[in-house]
Amino acid sequence: FQRNVLDGVRVLITAGPTQENIDPVRYITNHSSGKMGFALAEAAAEAGAQVTLVSGPVFLPTPDRVQRIDVVSARDMLAACEAAMPSDILIAAAAVADYRPEVVAPHKLKKDPTTGDGLYLQMVRNPDILATLAARPDRPFSVGFAAETEHLLDYAARKLKDKNLDLIVANDVANPSIGFNSEENAITVIDRQLQQTGFAQTSKGKIARQLIALIAARYAAH
Ligand code: C5P
Repeated sequence: FQRNVLDGVRVLITAGPTQENIDPVRYITNHSSGKMGFALAEAAAEAGAQVTLVSGPVFLPTPDRVQRIDVVSARDMLAACEAAMPSDILIAAAAVADYRPEVVAPHKLKKDPTTGDGLYLQMVRNPDILATLAARPDRPFSVGFAAETEHLLDYAARKLKDKNLDLIVANDVANPSIGFNSEENAITVIDRQLQQTGFAQTSKGKIARQLIALIAARYAAH
C-alpha cells in the first residue's frame, strides 16, 4: 500500500445510515454500521488525501487526520456534502434512506383507535446525494456502492450508468459473512467499460486499502 498515491487530493466520503424522523421519538433508517466508509476514510488519509467524512449516526471513532462532519437525515447529508465541495473524488458509502415521512409530527404520535390495527405514513423521495454531486459541472471522480441481495452485477452496472459514476462497488449483502455490520467484505468493482475487478473476502480495513489503491490509479488515469 503506497502512502503517497493521493497526496493533496481532496476526497469526500459519505458513511453510515441516515435517520428520517417520524415524530420526536421515532425514525426510519437503514442497516449500516459505517465500518466500510470509515475504513475508506482511514485508508485515503494514509494515502495522503485531504479527507472529509460526512457521517450519519454511527458508533465509530474518527480516523486520524480526517475531518468528520456528523449529520442525521439525507437532506442534512446532501447539504454537508455540497458545503464540502469542490472535491476531487467522491466515495458514497452511506446507506441513505430513499424515502422520508412527508411531515414530521410535532408531538409523539398516539395510537389511533379509529384506524384499527393500521398506521398509514405518507413518504416522499429523498434526494440522491451521489447522483446530485455527480451531475454538477465540477463533478468529482465519483464512486458509488451497490448493496444488493440479487442480480448484483446487473443492478450495479445499471446504477453506474443511471448515476453517471466512474466506478461502482458491488457488494452482495445477502451473504451474512460480508454484509451489514460484519467485519469482512468481498467486492467487485465495475468501471464505465464494464470491466470488473474482484477483491476476495478479507477485513474491511484490507478491502478499503485495496479499493483506495484502485481508485487512486483510476483517478490519476482519468
Ligand atoms: O440506488 P441505491 O441507493 O442502491 O444506490 C446506492 C449508492 O447511491 C450508494 O453509493 C449510496 O451511498 C448512494 N446514494 C446516495 N443518496 C441516496 C441513495 C443512494 O448518495 N439518496
